[in-house]
Amino acid sequence: MIRSFLAGIRFKSTAVSAQPRLYGAASQQVFDKEEKFGAHNYHPLPVALKKGEGVFVWDVEGNKYFDFLSAYSAVNQGHCHPKIVKALTDQAQTLALTSRAFHNDILCEYAEFITNMFKYDKVLPMNTGVEAGETACKLARKWAYNVKGVPDGQAKTIFAENNFWGRTLSAVSSSTDPSCYEGFGPYMPGNVIIPYNDLPALEKACQDPNVCAFMVEPIQGEAGVVVPDEGYLRGVREICNKHNVLFIADEVQTGLHRTGRRLCVDHEGVRPDIVLLGKALSGGVYPVSAVLADDAVMLQIKAGEHGSTYGGNPVACKVAIAALQVLEEEKLAERSEELGQLLRQELSTLPKDKVKLVRGKGLLNAIVIHESIDAWQVCLRLRDNGLLAKPTHGDIIRFAPPLVMTTEQILECAGIIRDTIAEF
Ligand SMILES: Cc1ncc(COP(=O)(O)O)c(C=O)c1O
Repeated sequence: MIRSFLAGIRFKSTAVSAQPRLYGAASQQVFDKEEKFGAHNYHPLPVALKKGEGVFVWDVEGNKYFDFLSAYSAVNQGHCHPKIVKALTDQAQTLALTSRAFHNDILCEYAEFITNMFKYDKVLPMNTGVEAGETACKLARKWAYNVKGVPDGQAKTIFAENNFWGRTLSAVSSSTDPSCYEGFGPYMPGNVIIPYNDLPALEKACQDPNVCAFMVEPIQGEAGVVVPDEGYLRGVREICNKHNVLFIADEVQTGLHRTGRRLCVDHEGVRPDIVLLGKALSGGVYPVSAVLADDAVMLQIKAGEHGSTYGGNPVACKVAIAALQVLEEEKLAERSEELGQLLRQELSTLPKDKVKLVRGKGLLNAIVIHESIDAWQVCLRLRDNGLLAKPTHGDIIRFAPPLVMTTEQILECAGIIRDTIAEF
């Protein structure tokens, strides 16, 4: 049985946190049932959500919260964005799934739309972020054998330490986090791990002629929002060019306006060979992911060599078009850039003996908490004060609200964080 968290009533001075917060039987019932019937592969914060709108979510007792996680950056456009929900429901009532055994009339429209927006020749549609990663790894291997001339079965892919790109066997085979890989061997061969943000290490690894690609997050999200040095991505591009190695940018979390640009690589004006998108590509209403590449890479995979029953289905395609349009129409990259600066400025005034570091770009941010304070306890108190965030790696809390926040709301949230930290 999950420990009850009847926290009683708290009063605060700001709008959302001023609401009396009562947790009770309805929440407990959700926790207990999920624990009894669901696999125990997650450790959620004890809050049972029932409704979402824009930057807010409500729990089963009617308590209202700022969402400061945005479903790991899937809800950049805000919860239940009306334009995206309309695209979803309209298409679901018209034609939902054909599989790729037949053409549908929306995939072509979507493919034209997204490739024009991101300026790549082709898109390969998948569903989840990890499938986009798998697709990129397969593409890179095919390219290595067909184009680079790597002997069959010898291709190697470089990954950075502390990467995270999902939970499949390939993804955990390239992970350096024991909680991801331990007990799941044997592992996929052909992976080379180098430190993140280390160009000399990349240069050295790329000298192996069997290397086909370097797959990297422009900012490491799950590792705790680790921002590389300015110039790192440009350096990656140059080294990959020099050694005929594909640069795969995993923009599943950093992409789609989250860091203050359409793609995070846009901060350094670099163009990867393969871009992975997911999460906010649907605004959180449907699993949609995509791989973007030019013909020289994408056309290495031929009919029947890769795919997915749901990839490129009409609902996903309509939803993705709407989700991308919302990001552009509402200029969410600009807002993310502006509000991110304001948030980091506010957070930088937190006492250094409690918050050691504030880092991030746009609205992808994190604070590193002093060892004497338990980040999980901070998140519980944040919840009690009306703001939902989740710790990562014990001492880091990610702050990634929907990009549709207002300036007043971000200041209110900074106030909640400040008051909460003061309680420790
Ligand atoms: C950078 C990155 N890539 C890939 C993934 C995997 O996405 P999904 O959970 O949709 O498979 C994640 C998920 O957090 C991620 O952060």
